[in-house]
Amino acid sequence: MKLKIAQLPGDGIGPEVVEQAVKAVNAVCKKFGHEAEYTFAYAGACAIDKFGNPYPDETHEICMQSDAVLFGAVGDPRFDNDPTAKVRPEQGLLAMRKKLGLYANLRPVETFKSLISKSPLKTELVDGADLMCIRELTGGMYFGEKGRKENGNVAYDTCIYSREEVERILKLAFEYAMKRRKKLTVVDKANVLESSRLWRQIAQEIAPKYPEVEVDYMFVDNAAMQLIRFPKHFDVMVTENMFGDILTDEASCITGSMGLLASASIGVHTSVFEPIHGSYPQAAGKNIANPLATILSAAMMFEYAFGLMDEGRAIRNAVAKSIEAGVVTEDLANGAKSYSTSEVGDWVAANI
Ligand code: IPM
Ligand code: MN
Repeated sequence: MKLKIAQLPGDGIGPEVVEQAVKAVNAVCKKFGHEAEYTFAYAGACAIDKFGNPYPDETHEICMQSDAVLFGAVGDPRFDNDPTAKVRPEQGLLAMRKKLGLYANLRPVETFKSLISKSPLKTELVDGADLMCIRELTGGMYFGEKGRKENGNVAYDTCIYSREEVERILKLAFEYAMKRRKKLTVVDKANVLESSRLWRQIAQEIAPKYPEVEVDYMFVDNAAMQLIRFPKHFDVMVTENMFGDILTDEASCITGSMGLLASASIGVHTSVFEPIHGSYPQAAGKNIANPLATILSAAMMFEYAFGLMDEGRAIRNAVAKSIEAGVVTEDLANGAKSYSTSEVGDWVAANI
């Protein structure tokens, strides 16, 4: 199979970790007889520097023409500490999600036996936890009307959702639950927010169509607590954009490192595969960042964009093996010998 991949490394550690994922993709292609063709494109702060736009039209065209997008991270401290900046790297990521219609962000949380001791949670709580967080990605407060009034002294962001937006993500979540352990937790704040009440209403309308799925409604504050109190309670969790952003960072602790959480963003046009961690500017160029989340995102790319399950599994197995063998970056090394970003990437590729 010919795989047309748009490569958007972005900023900070993005280029280093994407480079390792590309090694894994190439190893899989060699093993299974596929041919990967990469087209590089700018996104984030590097795109602002070059084009004055964090998601230039050229980049969008390349994404639209590709079968999948492999994405690193965006962000730059030059913008973080300047609340008056007119353009921000993150706007590029948001523009990409919106223009590609990527309304569903799938963030699986899986545990690796040999890493359980790295989790801040007790082993018996974490061992066997396996959940899929489905975050709505193109609506809510991220995209609702925002602004300032009264001379800039009052600021607002609007959380807005349409029936259509809520229906499509909830249907997708029910379908996922059917493919897994048939348990769905709908997370909202329906005791306070009108948008959450629309979510819950629509979830209750859809639920009878999936009688096998056990649905559970949970307020987001409680969900934040249950996630670390009893992570094994969850199978599929679905929630709106901002709640999902926050809960998935929290969920990444369950596994022991944020450097392990991969994601797939799917929807109308080309799907995007990216680690959930950010650009980690302090580590940029130091060859110390954990590349496994991006490598696992490449595994999701094979599975979700190309339907190539064995290829995805080959990457997952090699990643699990590297963790077991202790060929990991310092965040996972537990004080033992650690390896550089590129050494981990080489080892994983060699073991595919
Ligand atoms: C994420 C990130 C982004 C988000 C930022 C970089 C805009 O935190 O993908 O979770 O908030 O969605
Ligand atoms: Mn986030």
